[in-house]
Order: sequence, then C-alpha cells, then structure tokens
Amino acid sequence: MSAAPSVSAASASAPTIVSVSLATQGVAVITLDDPSSPVNTITEEFGFQLGAALDRVESDPAIVAAVMVSGKSDFVVGANIEMLKAIKFSSDAERMARELSVRLGRIRRSGKPVVAAVHGQALGGGFELALACHAIVLSNDKKTQVALPEVKLGLIPGANGLLRVAERAGLQVAIDLGLTGRNVRAAKAKALGLAEEVCPLPLLRAVAIQRALALASSTGNSDAARANRAKAKKAEHPFHLSLDAKTIAHIALEDNPLGRRLLFKKAREAARKKSHGHYPATTRVLDVLEMFGRKGFTAAAELEAKCFGELVVSETSHRLIEMFFATTGLKKDSGVDDPNVAPRTVDRVGVLGGGLMGAGVAYVTINAGIPVRLKDKDDVGIGRGLKYVRGILDERVKKKQLTGVERDQLFARLTGATDFSGLRNAELVVEAVFEDLALKQAVLREVEAVTRPDCIFASNTSSIPIGKIAAASAHPETVLGMHYFSPVHKMPLLEVVRTEKTAPWALATAVALGKKQGKTVIVVNDGVGFYTSRILAPYLNEASHMLAEGVPVEAIDHAMIDWGFPVGPLKLLDEVGIDVGAHVGEIVHAAFGDRLTPPSATSRLLADNRKGRKNGRGFYVYGAAAGGRSGKEVDSSIYKALGIEPRGKLPIEEIQMRCALQLVNEALLCFGEGVLRSARDGDVGAVLGLGFPPFRGGPFRYVDTIGAAEILRRTQSYADRFGRRFTPAPVLVDMAKKGERFYPR
Ligand code: NAI
Repeated sequence: MSAAPSVSAASASAPTIVSVSLATQGVAVITLDDPSSPVNTITEEFGFQLGAALDRVESDPAIVAAVMVSGKSDFVVGANIEMLKAIKFSSDAERMARELSVRLGRIRRSGKPVVAAVHGQALGGGFELALACHAIVLSNDKKTQVALPEVKLGLIPGANGLLRVAERAGLQVAIDLGLTGRNVRAAKAKALGLAEEVCPLPLLRAVAIQRALALASSTGNSDAARANRAKAKKAEHPFHLSLDAKTIAHIALEDNPLGRRLLFKKAREAARKKSHGHYPATTRVLDVLEMFGRKGFTAAAELEAKCFGELVVSETSHRLIEMFFATTGLKKDSGVDDPNVAPRTVDRVGVLGGGLMGAGVAYVTINAGIPVRLKDKDDVGIGRGLKYVRGILDERVKKKQLTGVERDQLFARLTGATDFSGLRNAELVVEAVFEDLALKQAVLREVEAVTRPDCIFASNTSSIPIGKIAAASAHPETVLGMHYFSPVHKMPLLEVVRTEKTAPWALATAVALGKKQGKTVIVVNDGVGFYTSRILAPYLNEASHMLAEGVPVEAIDHAMIDWGFPVGPLKLLDEVGIDVGAHVGEIVHAAFGDRLTPPSATSRLLADNRKGRKNGRGFYVYGAAAGGRSGKEVDSSIYKALGIEPRGKLPIEEIQMRCALQLVNEALLCFGEGVLRSARDGDVGAVLGLGFPPFRGGPFRYVDTIGAAEILRRTQSYADRFGRRFTPAPVLVDMAKKGERFYPR
C-alpha cells in the first residue's frame, strides 16, 4: 500500500515536529523531526504535537497500530537543556514533568499499540519516550545507544523513565542506569530486557511494523491473539520463567521487602561514598526507585515529579548544565578567533617517545582513524609503546566495545621505528620524550630535518614553555604545545598551547585533531606551566605547607575529597610523582618568585627517596607492604622523614579554603595575564584536567557563586596570616571593587 499524505500535528504557528502518515496494513508512522534543529529534543511544543499525533492515531479507524521513528540520525537526545536552564520556579519544572508523563502514559494506555523504532541515540526524555511505547526495536548500529544521563546534569529523569526501566529490567538495572547515566548499546539493552528486538538498520522500520501488527492482533480476543499475548508476555518477563541464579538473586533482593531494603542500603552507601553528599540527584534516584519498590508506579511518579522540580532549579544542576554548555561550546570552537582560518587535513601523525604519554597519544590517534608512526630511541621503548596500545585495545575487546577484527584493524594503523623513517609525510608530530629542554630541542631539529616544512611540531611537555622549545626551530610558526593528561585515553582534556609565533592555521589544525581524538580542547597562551600545571602548583604547595605544619596526610586529603575533588592533593602527588611535582615546583618558583616558594617538605621527601607510587615510597604505602591495600593507608614513617608530629589540627573548612583559594587565585592571575581566552576555558580546564569539583563549575563560576568580594576577603585574610603566596590577584581586587562577575547572571 502506498503511503497516505502526511498529516501534521503542529499547533497553528509552530513548525511541524511530529507528523503522522499511514504506512501499510493500517500501521501509522509517527515521525519525529524538528526542522529547527539538527537533533530532536523534547520541548513543550514537542509534547503538544505528540499529544495531537496520538489523538490522530486513536481516532482514525483506519489505523490499527503505530510505529515511532526519527527523521534525524539520532532518535531523540533528551529534554531541551536550554529550556530547563531557563526555568526559575520548581513548580514550573514539576508541572512540565507531570504533563510529559501524562502524555507518555497515554501511549501506554492507548488501545492501539505503538512501537518505537530507535536508531542512534535515545537519551533521557528520548529513552523515556521509547520506554513508554509498547515495544522497542533497536537498530544494531554502534551509534544506537539508550541512556538516562540526567544525573550528569544534577537531575533525575522526569517522565517515568526510571520506573519503566525498573518495570522492564528490575530495580538493580534501574539503579545502575539512574546513578551512572551510562550509555547502553543495542545488544546489551536487549539482554537487560530494555528492548524487545535488535535488527539491522535497513530492516528497522519493517521489523517495527511487524511487531506493531503482531501486538495489534494480540489485543483482540481470538485464540491466536491470546496465544500471541502469552508469547509476548513470556518474552517480556524472562525473570518469571526460569529460576536460574540471577532470577533467584532478583527475587531475593527485589521482590521481598527485606531484600529491597538491603539493596537500597547498599546503593545509598555506595552513592554517598562517591558523591560525598554533593550530588542530591543520586539520592533522589534512589528515593524514587525505593518508593517504586514499596508503593508502586503512581506513588513513585508523584515523588519523581516533585524531586525533578526541586533539582531543576538547584545550584548543583545549574553548575553542571553550565559545564555541559561550556564543553559543547568548545566543540564548536576552532581555537582561533578568525573565522576564516581553517584547519588543515591530518592524515598521518608521528609520535616521539613510546612512554606512558606517547603511547596514549598514539592510541587516541589511531582510534580517530589516523595512522601513527611511533618513534623511540630504542626497541625497548617501541615495544613498550606498542604493548601499551595493544593492552587498551584488548581491554576494549574484553568489554565488547570492539570485535577482534576491529581491534586488529585499529592496531594495524600503528607502526614503530627507532629512526625517523616514516615521518616524511606526517602533517603533525607530537613529541613525548623525557622532560628535558635540550632533548626536546634536539628531537625538534631532527624532526624538522626529515619532515615537510609545514609539518606541525607539537610538544606534550607539562612544564617547559613552548617558546623555549620553538627557539630551536627553523619555522617556529609550526611549533605549539599539545598538553595531554594521564592516562591519555581516559582524561577528556587537551590543552593546546600557542606561542606568539604559532600560526593560526597550525593552531586550528591541532585543535581539530584533538577533537577527532575525542578531547575537549582549550587553547591557552604560552607561559610557565601554561594554565593547568600552573594552577595545580600552588594548590599542591599549600597541601605540603599544611603537612609541614603537622596536619596529618589523611586530614588534608579527606578535606579536599570532601570539598569535591576525586582524590586528595597528597595522593595526587604520589600519582604524578613527588619528583615530577618538585621539578614543576622549581620551574614555577623560578618564574614567579617567592610567591611560589616550594614548601620545605618537598626537598626532605626527595632526600628520603620518596617519588610516590612509581617507586613505592610516598605519602601512602604501596605494594607488598600494603597487604592488599596498596595506596590506601598513609605511610606513617613519612612524619619522621619530615621531622614533624602529625598532631596539627585545622578545621576542615580552613584546609579546604586554603587549598582551593590557592588554585582559584592562580586561575584569576592567569586570566588577568591573558593566559586564557575566556573564563569558560579556565573553568573547563580546571574541571576536566584537574578534577576541580564539577558541581562548583570551575574556579571562575566559583568566584561568581560566592561573590568576588567574599573571595577577596577570605584570600586577604590568608595573605595577612601567611604572606605573599595569598596576595589576591589584581582581577579579583578589581572585580570585588566594582561588584562584577565573570559570567552574566
Ligand atoms: P616516559 O618516561 O614514560 O616516556 C618517555 C619516552 O621517551 C621513553 O619511552 C623514552 O625511551 C623516549 N625517548 C627518550 N628520548 C627519546 C628520543 N630521543 N627519541 C624518541 N624517544 C625518546 O615519560 P612520560 O610520562 O610519557 O612523559 C613524556 C612527556 O610528557 C614529558 O615531557 C612529560 O613532562 C609529559 N607529560 C607527562 C604527563 C604524565 O602524567 N606522565 C602528563 C602530561 C605531560
């Protein structure tokens, strides 16, 4: 049967987002396609048009069932975040959640089955929409993923998604998806019971139509329909059919009140341990699901709408949403201000040094589809680099993110050599050799001797000013910094560093490559420590100053974790290497004078051969001596090495403020000196590069939230007590005087 003309369900003035057409055998196709945006998002107008489309499906006697498809490359990517951020009153957000829930509930209650045919991402409200349908068919494409990522924005799903996941797949799956917000691919979604069917994309619509017809026939009263219903029920509730270990665990934990209480107790403990009470959405996810377990859908939905309303207007959610906008803004930023500058194509990359960083850079590059030539000084270095990359790929195969064939194809893009062969045609070379200026200049000269004159030379140095390396270059316009973070394949930030001589095209090319490698890229001006290493130095110094005052290691680390950092500063020093930290400390001291004098503790630690985790001697106990608790217990012998008694007692708030304000003040100095292009870049750099608490939005948002005058008062009070290292940044003094902010209200 040929398709009938499409019917628009749009309100008078709005463009058509949801349309209905008749496909075959009485199955209607509801197409979601917002012409004003590259993706479908859920807005009030979307909800309104969806309601009208359902009216049409229900009232038209020629329609027996419907399938819902997207006209975009993704299904629906969630609620419109701009819309959420603009909401001022919790009651408005609550009302919106209720209205959408009612609309989605209508699909469920409809006498005519609706099947969601999902290709691409169905996130948040988009997944909730699919879950409200009578069945979900997913394309087996890698792009097809479902998730409830609201928690990442400090929210909970507001249209009963958590409850429907719990109905379909059980409370444990709902808790997991709700607390992590993680993406689930098609096959996994089906295995969990979140979708009925997975099929190749070309068949998606036809399979969904068949499913819709089968469901339509099973709602009748014939014997065949009853048999169909029984079959569908079996398929949709596997837990009730077999009593395997998983089923028994499910019944024990979820289906009896004692088991449920245990389940939620454990989940709450785990969530509290991770969030330290800073992310109220995690508690709310559990509250709503616990209510679902105890009192059922309606009571849980009631609580959900209230919690959603509260969270939408919370400070935490605002900071997380701003961070989301900042990182999405950077995705569209070329890194140069001139819109006429375009990045050049990079088809071949060279990497010098197969150590931790070089191998990491090689991995993210081949993963972006670009062949890499890895050069090290000897075979051992090459072997180590190749093994490291292979290890990451193998891990991905184990996690079923790659097939064995895909791994081999990716790995084949990486070759190694101990000479400079294979670099002749490289458009960009990243150096990650030892942190030594003379060595870096030497390899730069060697690279320039064999590469094309427009080959970009990118240094991954963490502390040497790029200008000093570029001084050895015959064409310094091609020299810049690409400062990756360890481990490269996990850390999301790339700090690209430009010197006064770096050509805009070279900069734009490095930024574009970084994005292809999956990084969020900020561009900063050259200087000692660039931005991230520079603001980290005084933060770590302050922790060591407090240690020298006799404040115990765990008190310092615990205080900063409690403030929202993922690890404490002293543990971080163990990870980075106390020797590496000391080296950076010396460099920033030489550049910025006694404001950044290294604490006396550092030289004592080095004299005691303490380099941190890598030599098993640091602030914490590692290896066999730790008895299976490597890196967990403080090495109490450290106090003797420092010649101190760990009896110092500081209020937790003082520890937090002294460390945090050192970092914030240095960030403000960087801003004032023009190291940063914007406060936004400074916030993203601190959050993604250093683990500055995301719910505080970064150093600049933090100043805006607390107020420049109050931050100044605090910083000045420490300057009065501790001297120059707390001298307030001129920008702070100025803003406090004028009552200004970094971001508009
Ligand atoms: P690493 O010591 O693990 O690796 C350095 C590699 O360079 C070794 O494989 C070595 O054999 C090789 N190498 C030495 N001379 C060479 C030459 N002439 N030609 C080719 N290869 C040569 O060091 P890692 O940790 O990978 O650091 C490398 C660079 O990255 C340093 O500049 C470091 O400051 C920077 N960096 C390190 C971070 C970290 O967390 N480890 C973070 C950000 C930057």
